[in-house]
Formats: sequence, structure tokens, C-alpha cells
Amino acid sequence: MLSDAYGRVVTDLRISVTKRCNFSCVYCHDEGLGPTHRPRAPHEEEVSPREVERIVRVAREFGIRSIKYTGGEPLVRPDLEEIVDRTVRHVPDVSLTTNGSMLESRAEGLREAGVKRVNVSVDSVRPEEFRSIRGGALAPVLRGIRAALRVGLKPVKLNMVVLRQTIDRLPEMIDYVAAGEGLKLQLIQFMPELVQHRDWMIDIGSLRRWLEAHAEKVLVREMHHRRIYLFRGAEVELVDPVHNPEFCANCHRVRVTHKGELKGCLNRSDDLVPTRGLSDEELREAFRRVVAQRVPYYGAYHRDLPAREDLPPFPTLGPVRSSG
Ligand code: 5AD
Ligand code: SF4
Repeated sequence: MLSDAYGRVVTDLRISVTKRCNFSCVYCHDEGLGPTHRPRAPHEEEVSPREVERIVRVAREFGIRSIKYTGGEPLVRPDLEEIVDRTVRHVPDVSLTTNGSMLESRAEGLREAGVKRVNVSVDSVRPEEFRSIRGGALAPVLRGIRAALRVGLKPVKLNMVVLRQTIDRLPEMIDYVAAGEGLKLQLIQFMPELVQHRDWMIDIGSLRRWLEAHAEKVLVREMHHRRIYLFRGAEVELVDPVHNPEFCANCHRVRVTHKGELKGCLNRSDDLVPTRGLSDEELREAFRRVVAQRVPYYGAYHRDLPAREDLPPFPTLGPVRSSG
């Protein structure tokens, strides 16, 4: 087990397999590594399936239990299935965060390779609005979600980034997940740290109060004491990391960049530890080093936190059809 100076045990790895993406979301934090590239951009520096496998194998020795693949857009890589296949030889719990635009034709192969779950980013189910936020088309994404459900990748979690441009669609998004079998909605607070645009943030406290008032039922997850709001049986979860020391205190994740560097925190890139060309023993040492450097971003790295209520007011949202 790897544990940092704040007692946080590392249990999962989030591996970026590329910096390339076919979308251009207005909110994209680029995994903290600077602007994403277009799909055909040069990419010689990307980790190979064998490099990923070795990192996963060593992570397994340290008791890491789950792996999440991300990008950029991970499906830009034609060899993602091979990467997953090599991963599950060591760690069986493998999931994927994707923009969904290329999922329709890949869902079955990914499931066969060993993917257990997918998160698909959807912030609006209105095509024009979707395009203006994401820089891509909605229809293939919805087809990708259906394909994932069809091949048994359940539940499909929809990631909705909550910011000024998307908040008005929350009732519609809740209706969409409540109407479809096997969907969950994950509301992700817009993180301005790497994007700027603090003015796009909305007051998450009033969003929480809105959810509490409109949900049929509220469950509290043991892990992180996170709340789950039920709407006609569909689960809606709020992920609110910004200025939230409790969130960082519960962070059990180490990241791997598309170049194979270990990264201790999304919001930092001054803590990267390269792994290329290292022996297995040096790679183990690299893991120990990145974990030793880990600091809760909110609460220790940044101590002067503004009051969480000091954010712009929350707009008036329409009703959710499902909650009656
Ligand atoms: N704030 C919050 N979430 C973000 N994502 C990307 N950029 C941001 C941001 N600035 C999330 C999207 C996507 C995932 C890869 O990261 O929800 O699903
Ligand atoms: Fe960034 Fe993901 Fe959007 Fe691509 S789909 S631009 S990687 S948030």
C-alpha cells in the first residue's frame, strides 16, 4: 500500500492515454496538462500498451485496485482495446471516461477487452447547445450511450459539468436519465483552476438545496459521505471539489500522463515523475516519490479558501418532470 503524509491511501490510477481530442469543450481542463490537440496531431510521445501494462503491473504490487482511462479522448487511440486487455491481466476493475462520440462502434470490443463501466460526458440533450459547449455533435454520443447499454456496460454514468452555460438544462438532464434504463447522472462542479473563467461558476450550495428539495429520496454513500439524489429511481450525484478540503482529504488517486509520467494531483503539474526508461525497481521508487509529494490541494496546498457561498447566485430552474 502507498500512503501519503496526510494518511491518504492510493487505491486508484487515472491514466491519460492521449492528449488528443475531437471535441473542444469550453470548460476542458485538459487534465492539467495544457491544451488538447486535434486527433491527427503528432503523438509519438504517447504511452504504448506495453508501457501502460508495466505501470499497471507495478501499481498492482502496491495494492491499487482500479484503473480509469481518460484523455484527451481515449477512443482517439485505436489500440485502447489492447491497452485494456493488457490492463485486466493485472487489475480487473477498468473503466473509461469518454466523450462518447466514437463509442458506438467500439463499445462491444471494449467490453470484450474487459472494460466494466463507462462515463460519458453529456451536458445538454439539445443538439445546438451541445455543439456550442462541446464543439461536436450530440447524435453520435447518444448512439454511443445506447450501444454501451446494449453490450452490458451498465450503468452508464453521464458526466454533466455544472456551470453557467449548462445549469438551465439540469431538469432536462434529470428527465433524460430517469427515462432511460441503466443511466446515472454525475453533476461535476466546474473547476476553474486550470481554465480561468471564475465567472462561469455557480453557487453549488444552492444547487445542493435544489436537489434536496426536488429529489424523491436522498441517500448518503458511506464513501466520502456523498449524497445520492433519487429522481424516479434514477441516481443523481453531485461532485463538488472546488474549495472543498473534505473532497481532497478523500482523494485516493494518482494520475498518469499520456507520456507515462506519474502525477499526484489534477491541479498541479509541478509534481510530475517520469517513468520512461526506468527499471522496475526505479518505477517502484517513482511511485513512492510521487505519493510522498502528494498534498491535499484544497486544505494544505491552498489554505486561504474563500467562503464557498461567495459565488454568483443560482438561476431559477424549471421543474423536473419526473418528480411530479
Ligand atoms: N471542470 C469540471 N469537470 C471538467 N471536466 C473537464 N474539464 C472540467 C472542468 N473544468 C470533466 C468532464 C469530462 C471529464 C473528462 O472531465 O466532465 O467528463
Ligand atoms: Fe476536454 Fe474531454 Fe471535452 Fe475533449 S471531450 S475537449 S478532453 S473535456
